[in-house]
This record gives sequence, C-alpha cells and structure tokens, in this order.
Amino acid sequence: MSSPILLRGSIRRRLIIQLLVGAALLATLMFLVVQRYARDLAGQSQDEILAASVTAILDSAAVRQGDLTVDIPYFAFSMLGNISEDRVFYAIRRNGSFLTGYPDLPKPFAASGSTPRFQTDTYDGEDIRMATATRRLSVEGQPDFIEVTVAQTRYGLRQQLAAISQTVAGFGIGFFVLSALFGILAAQSAIRPLRRLAESVSRRGLADLRPVSAPVPAEMEALVRALNGFMSRLKTSLTRSEDLIAEAAHRVRTPLATVRTQAEITLRRVDKPENRQAVREMIRAIDESSRAAGQLLDHAMVSFRSDHLELEDVEIARLVRETVDRVHPTADLRDIDLVLRLPEATMRVKGDPILMQSALLNLLDNAIKYSPADSCVHVSARITDQEAVITVRDEGAGFPKTDMGRLTRRFVRGSNTDAVVGSGLGLTIAHEVARAHGGRLFLTNHNEEGGACASLSFPLA
Ligand SMILES: Nc1ncnc2c1ncn2[C@@H]1O[C@H](COP(=O)(O)OP(=O)(O)O)[C@@H](O)[C@H]1O
Ligand SMILES: [Mg+2]
Repeated sequence: MSSPILLRGSIRRRLIIQLLVGAALLATLMFLVVQRYARDLAGQSQDEILAASVTAILDSAAVRQGDLTVDIPYFAFSMLGNISEDRVFYAIRRNGSFLTGYPDLPKPFAASGSTPRFQTDTYDGEDIRMATATRRLSVEGQPDFIEVTVAQTRYGLRQQLAAISQTVAGFGIGFFVLSALFGILAAQSAIRPLRRLAESVSRRGLADLRPVSAPVPAEMEALVRALNGFMSRLKTSLTRSEDLIAEAAHRVRTPLATVRTQAEITLRRVDKPENRQAVREMIRAIDESSRAAGQLLDHAMVSFRSDHLELEDVEIARLVRETVDRVHPTADLRDIDLVLRLPEATMRVKGDPILMQSALLNLLDNAIKYSPADSCVHVSARITDQEAVITVRDEGAGFPKTDMGRLTRRFVRGSNTDAVVGSGLGLTIAHEVARAHGGRLFLTNHNEEGGACASLSFPLA
C-alpha cells in the first residue's frame, strides 16, 4: 500500500517559467534600447541634412550692388528631397520680417545664431522638423540679419523607424524563442539526474537494498547519502528480524520436542489409568503449543518474506512432490493415502519456494487433520492460460459452510474443530502467500456431502 504523496509545484516547470520570464524581459529590453537608439540615429541624420540645407542657403546670401540677394541653390533642397515623399518648406526672414518662402511656417521659438537650432512643430496639419540659423551681413554699413528656416515632414523618418522596429522585433522574438528552447533544454537536463535516480531506485524493487552507486551531481549528494543510510538501516533491521524469527523457532521447537519425548517415555512407564490419562493430556497440550508456536513463527516468517519477496523460478510439480513427501509420516499415522496427480508439462512460476511450500504444507496438514482415517487426500496441479493451480482435496466433511467467508482470517477456526489441534493460522498463511505472489486461495466443498477442496493459484512466469 503506498500512501498518497502531496505534490507541490514542479522544479522543471518553475525553472522553465523563470527562464522564459527572464528571456521575455531581456528581449523586450533589447527591443526598447535598439529602437530608441535607432530613433536617435535617424533623427540625427535628418537634422544634419536640414542643417546642411540651411547653411547652403545662408551661404548663398550676398550683398550685391548695395542690396541683399539670396539664391537658393538647387542642392539645398535636393539633398532633402531624395529621402522619400517628404515635403520640404522654407522661410527666409530679414531682420525679423518675412522675405520669401512659406509665410505661415512657424517661427523658431528662440533667437538663433549661426549654428542651426532645431525644433519639432506642426505645419499644415503635419509633423515637421525645422532647422533655423541666422547670418549677419553688412549692407551699406548697416548690420543686416538674415534668418533661414528649412523644415521637412517626418514620414520618411517614421517609415524608417517602423522598418527598424519590425526588424528589431523580429530579432527580439527570435532571441526569445531561442532562449526559451535553451531554457527548456536546460531545465530538462537539470532534472534528468533526479529522474534517473528515481527510476533506478523504483526499478530495483523492494528486496534490493544496495546503496545507490551510480554517479550523481553534487547537489544530490545529501539526498543520496540519506537514502543510502536509510536503506542500510532497513537492511540491518530486516536481517535482524529474519534471524530473530529463525532463532525463536529453533528455541521454541527444540525444548518442546524434548518434553514431548520425555512425556511419551513416561506414558509407557505409567500403569494407573488416571495417571495415563493425565500424561496423554499433557502430550496433547505440548502438541498444541508446539504447533501454535510453529504456526505463529511460520506466519511471522510469511508476513515478513511477503513484504520483500525474493522471486526465483519454481517448478510446481517438483515443489508439490517434495512437500507431499514431508507430510507422508503424518498421513501414515492416520492411514491416509496421498494421491498425486500432476501433468506432464513443466509448470514454472516466479515465486518464493519457501513460502509456497509453507502454504501447501498448511493445506495438506488441514486435509489430513480434518478428514476421516483410512481415506484419501488428492493433490493435483494444473495449468491454465495465466496461472498454475495447486489443489488439495480430501474426503472429509468439508469446510463448515457458515464459516467459509472467515476461515482465512487470523486465529479463526471453524465449528468442526472439536478435538483437532490447531491455531487458526494455516489458511491465513496460505492466503497471504498466494496474495503476495499475485495469486489467490479458493475454498470450496467438493460435493454436497463435503470433501474440502482448497486451491492455490500462482500467476505463470
Ligand atoms: N480440510 C478441511 N476440512 C474441513 N475444515 C477445514 C479444512 N481445512 C480447514 N478447515 C477449517 O478451517 C479452519 C481454519 O483452518 P486453519 O487456518 O488451517 O486453522 P487450524 O487448522 O489451525 O484450525 C479450521 O479450523 C477448520 O474449521
Ligand atoms: Mg490448519
């Protein structure tokens, strides 16, 4: 039974999200910085052309025959015109009053000097960028200020910026996608050792308590160390329990056997009927306790071994033959014939032979105990598609019908036990062994008159 595990979050998901958020922030930042830089650069180049144009016009101003003339050179506008469909405006003022050009072109905010000043404004419903500069000339000894403003709409600039933004956005998205990919890969590879450890531990099964020896990253050292320590303690405690059970079995059985032998010897020497009766009862009590002790220990051993099954290939026919051989002496005491029926084909299952034998021994023991003297106990094995089934059938009265459902519970004995020695653990053991192997124990009565029939099934290897 595995208890539910509380899950909170996922390292991989958290890593991926953090990396994605980081990549998105970086991509946005990159977009904004590059866009801003591009805007500055484009604006600067428009300003430079406007300034060159203003300077060219100013340079053409001259005093001729005592009067001021301004020839607008062709190239002053041509350098502006070739950028795009941008419109160009200009205004020339002399000592503050309009001379030529576009009269309603906005006036510059501040008085300008010989180096051009720039400003952004609207004209004719459109955004424009203006450059203005002033030149001082002397006309007939009088200072004369000529101010030139050249303006241009900003479509080209905007188009250029849009194109740059698009490219930069493309780069940003590409950068994001690439970093996302790297992020996912990085998260995968960061998690991989954890997953590998989990797989290797869960694959090895409960019986394998060797320490983890595969190399792990430094961050996982503490975890693996703790896991190894845990497993080694578990292993020690398991070995100790197994030894204890074996030791206890030995310590209990040996002295009881000695006492029983002594009691039998005494029985032969005693003549008085009431004394003989007392000794017989003593022997029966000894039998009962040694059987109970034996079964308790068997049951402990079965529970213990079922928890960490050590599976090997078990040949069913051989197992049945060997187990039946072991109960021949008991059967002979009651003149019971053990009839074996085994198929020719080999039947192999994966199982713990000691446990399987213990289960079968308990069924045989019951069949011999609960059936009349001078009868037969039939032991057979057969194979179906998926399982091997071992059946023990006797010619006794059968399982008490009313108790059938409870007989496999611990210490439960039926209503038919009268003088029969037992502890109520035999069927429990058989049931637990079958279950530990993924099989089942079936109890039926062979016919209406009885004849108990107990079958153990084990899934085929
Ligand atoms: N072959 C059998 N024939 C009739 N009854 C049986 C047989 N095997 C088991 N039982 C009934 O099932 C009960 C439980 O069996 P088991 O767990 O082996 O305990 P125990 O043999 O110690 O009584 C028995 O007490 C008996 O009532
Ligand atoms: Mg029994």
